[in-house]
Amino acid sequence: MKFFVDTADLAEIRELASTGLLDGVTTNPSLVAKTGGNFLDLIAAICEIVPGPVSAEVAATDFETMLAEGRHLARIAPNVTVKVPLTPDGLKACKALTGDGTMVNVTLCFSAGQALLAAKAGATFVSPFVGRLDDLSTDGMALIDDIVQIYRQYPAIATEVLVASVRHPMHLVAAAKMGAHVATIPPAVIRQLFKHPLTERGLEQFVKDWATTGQSILGEPGEAVQPLRKPA
Ligand code: E4P
Repeated sequence: MKFFVDTADLAEIRELASTGLLDGVTTNPSLVAKTGGNFLDLIAAICEIVPGPVSAEVAATDFETMLAEGRHLARIAPNVTVKVPLTPDGLKACKALTGDGTMVNVTLCFSAGQALLAAKAGATFVSPFVGRLDDLSTDGMALIDDIVQIYRQYPAIATEVLVASVRHPMHLVAAAKMGAHVATIPPAVIRQLFKHPLTERGLEQFVKDWATTGQSILGEPGEAVQPLRKPA
């Protein structure tokens, strides 16, 4: 399963990219507005940090302007993925942009029928929003299950299910069990994924016990690393 980070914060992206665990980035107008910076410069900077797909959303809602904006965004870097809304004009723009060879992420998907339309429009990714459905007392993960199952019936569908609006680690675990291709995860949730109290407690004990051996694997600070002894 691919992990994208759902943020427009460059410092967060840099830090998470340094783990080597990041496959891509998603942004949206709300996340960009929080940064206060120039959108095009921001996307260019993100594309330099992360070589995987970087979603940049169009601002217009009509086909012609969406297409022009999408083509402009796609010129920033080859890993720009143009994000368009799941509307008739958005899907028309999706078809035209994928025809140009640009990756497209169809966003704001809330039903399996919509996901089928995105696949027919040749979307690279479809983004069903699980958290926003959960907020309305509707099972967001059931939608992921439906879409994954439907896409599996048609091997010709190349669209990847990108689980969006993720709120907690269990969304990830459930999505992985269902076979979703990608999840875009807020930085705080990625950090939660690393954590387990038994990992922390276990490591604390190992560090303490190691200290009692009085040894150092690499030798003392400043000392040259000792060659390994040949086994007797
Ligand atoms: C990402 O592509 C989506 O825009 C994002 O996951 C939405 O998340 P939210 O529902 O927490 O705003």
